[in-house]
Amino acid sequence: MNPLRATIAARVAGMELSVIKDMAVRAARTPGAISLAWGVPSFVTPAPIRAAVQEALDEDPDIGRYSLPDGIAEFRAAIVERHHAATGVRADAERHVLVSAGNMQAMSTMLKVLLEAGDEVIVTDPGFCSHLQQIELAGGVPRYWRLDESRGWQLDMDALPALVNGRTRAVILVNPSNPTGRIFERDDLLALAALARRHNLLILIDDPYSDFVHERAAPLFNLASAPEFAAQVVYMFTFSKAFAMTGWRLGYMVMPECLKREAIKVHDAELICAPRISQVAGLAALRMAPPARLEFARIIAARREQICARLDAMPELFSYQRPQGAYYVFPRILAPHRDSREFALRLLHEAGVSVTPGAGFGPSGEHHLRMAFCVSEQDIDGAFDRIDGWRRRSQR
Ligand SMILES: Cc1ncc(COP(=O)(O)O)c(C=O)c1O
Repeated sequence: MNPLRATIAARVAGMELSVIKDMAVRAARTPGAISLAWGVPSFVTPAPIRAAVQEALDEDPDIGRYSLPDGIAEFRAAIVERHHAATGVRADAERHVLVSAGNMQAMSTMLKVLLEAGDEVIVTDPGFCSHLQQIELAGGVPRYWRLDESRGWQLDMDALPALVNGRTRAVILVNPSNPTGRIFERDDLLALAALARRHNLLILIDDPYSDFVHERAAPLFNLASAPEFAAQVVYMFTFSKAFAMTGWRLGYMVMPECLKREAIKVHDAELICAPRISQVAGLAALRMAPPARLEFARIIAARREQICARLDAMPELFSYQRPQGAYYVFPRILAPHRDSREFALRLLHEAGVSVTPGAGFGPSGEHHLRMAFCVSEQDIDGAFDRIDGWRRRSQR
């Protein structure tokens, strides 16, 4: 046994790399594999953003320096405007806004701010796999809020009260959902917020996908737009997906003043500040007209049609709920299989297609796969051509 093993914290030694990254790494090591495993949009960061950074690199002597921990003041002022346009709520740049290095870091910071050992955080099941690890790393315990596939993965408000106890601190919400693409109902979200207020819980909104809403009939209601619940809500927005900036590591949080005072201590201790160069990029992103995200959303909506058509042609292999938002579809595996991991590995090794096993998203995700359709049209078709060929070969 490696002698260093004994020095590694048990909670880390007992962890696995997240299923998404595990499948991404496996795909990268499999020559020629097509990956639908990781939600990295195929788009290039828009030219005006790159140009603004180029100019700052040439002209701005501060570009290589730290910013204040909560971010460049001019950027925070632009965030206040965007937040107002998106939610109707006017935040204060000094009191409420903290620039993060993306929503992963933002969530991790907030969980450290909130949790004592053994405290509980309610997460949807299925939900985003990294949240489970982040809760555990902060000493907390995830409590699964089971969503029902037969009801389109919508929130189950009847099941919620029984999950709350004296140790519950927060509920994490991703809307539109990763991995199901479900857009949660306005009334359910308001009922959730009312319950959170009664029990003094925070709602941690992790928002990478609100720009990707595919159906007029299912408009998105953002709980951060309800001023009556402002004291209950921490809103986290990431530039990763809406602006094709996954590698820049940039986001922001809007939260009650008393929480920002605490969060900035943890944020500083972990990171000092989000990279200044990325903040410059973010400022340019917010100033872009017309916003690139509108074009991205249009393309992603077309890719949803494409992937749904391909799934419709394989009814003996998969059944699925049509995603209303985000860019994931979460089909149930109908073909014979042991579990979602075994099936995903078989698809990778035998068909050359990487997808994410659903079990990583919580117990209700077992026997499902997550497929990201933010990849190029060629990759979607290439992946499904291969799955189709694999299916035919295995039937022989
Ligand atoms: C729900 C959710 N949160 C956070 C992230 C990562 O966001 P960021 O790049 O801002 O850290 C993702 C990326 O897939 C996600 O789906």
